Amino acid sequence: MSGGVAGVVSFTFCKSFLEENTGKIPVFLGSLPDLSQGTVINFPEFGLIFVNEKGRFSFLSTKCTHLGCTLRLSGRRLMCPCHGGIFDLEGDVLDGPPEKPLTRFEGGLTKEGILYFYPDRKLPVWNRGSGSRK
Ligand code: FES
Repeated sequence: MSGGVAGVVSFTFCKSFLEENTGKIPVFLGSLPDLSQGTVINFPEFGLIFVNEKGRFSFLSTKCTHLGCTLRLSGRRLMCPCHGGIFDLEGDVLDGPPEKPLTRFEGGLTKEGILYFYPDRKLPVWNRGSGSRK
């Protein structure tokens, strides 16, 4: 009986802690052997694609900006199985009905070499000229 009470207290504490620290707690993706230029790694459990392209790390959502379907990585593109939306590895729309680029999250690499991102910290859309389509 007391174990059940402890579980409730623990859950309440964790829920409260997480609510108070939303956006402040990174998700650690792990220590990866190769993050060199051109690296693309899919983390389906987090709905995330990591990309090291053009000298910067990007943490892109795999949620299509049209109606929210989960994108699939295909070569160096992200394809939407629902209505044919296509995004590049910078999150820009290449084709299909999506109007907005993909959501990007804040993230980085710890000095110990562990990749992380903040699921509640969205970065502003890059200014890529007059529109997101190429
Ligand atoms: S949900 Fe992706 S193109 Fe419609």
